[in-house]
Amino acid sequence: MALSGAFLYCPTVTPNPSSTPMRVDIDAVREQALACTRCALSEGRTQVVWGKGNLDGDLLFIGEAPGFHEDQQGIPFVGAAGQLLDKLLDEVGIPKSRAAVVNVLKCRPPNNRDPAPEEIESCRPYLDAQLAHMSPKVIVTLGNFATKFILEENIGITKARGQKYERRGAVVVPTFHPAAALRGGRFGGMSTVDAMRHDLTTVKETLASLESQPDESVDETEQLGLF
Ligand code: URA
Repeated sequence: MALSGAFLYCPTVTPNPSSTPMRVDIDAVREQALACTRCALSEGRTQVVWGKGNLDGDLLFIGEAPGFHEDQQGIPFVGAAGQLLDKLLDEVGIPKSRAAVVNVLKCRPPNNRDPAPEEIESCRPYLDAQLAHMSPKVIVTLGNFATKFILEENIGITKARGQKYERRGAVVVPTFHPAAALRGGRFGGMSTVDAMRHDLTTVKETLASLESQPDESVDETEQLGLF
């Protein structure tokens, strides 16, 4: 049965009358995701892969879809691609404690094929809810699918990578998917993995520069409580 986005959101999001951001009951959305049958991928999955890390942090990595190991364990980026990403974060000096990692699709496509457009649309409310709840300062899109989802542009990763965009109140830095880096290959004068290192350094610098600016995103509820 195809469920509408309205069904998904109604019981879980409380409109905040005093400001534009919506308050998301992320635990309730997660419960819905874990039981989701919105697309046919639910029939072949072992587990829904919701996300990992700090959903209250300021840095969000978005991948494509769970692979074999992620489907088995219910955790994103636990296979070889995830290990490479972890290694690069350590090398560059980005603390994993401030980051969350999610995917565009929460269920594994058969044989790790590309996500189909209708699967991305079915899954969209879950990632939208994660983004609305987290409100990250920096979003790193890993590969083509996450980049197109967030930029809402039909732009390829080789063109977009390493650039900074503003979307959803965040700075977006697209980079290659770590699986592409594992396959090797070169981009311009550098290896794909060196390009990722470079882009992640941009991410680290962006976070540092945002930290040194005053935070204007005051929670109005808390502010009212002060007076
Ligand atoms: N590739 C992805 O895009 N996501 C994962 O969770 C694992 C591999």
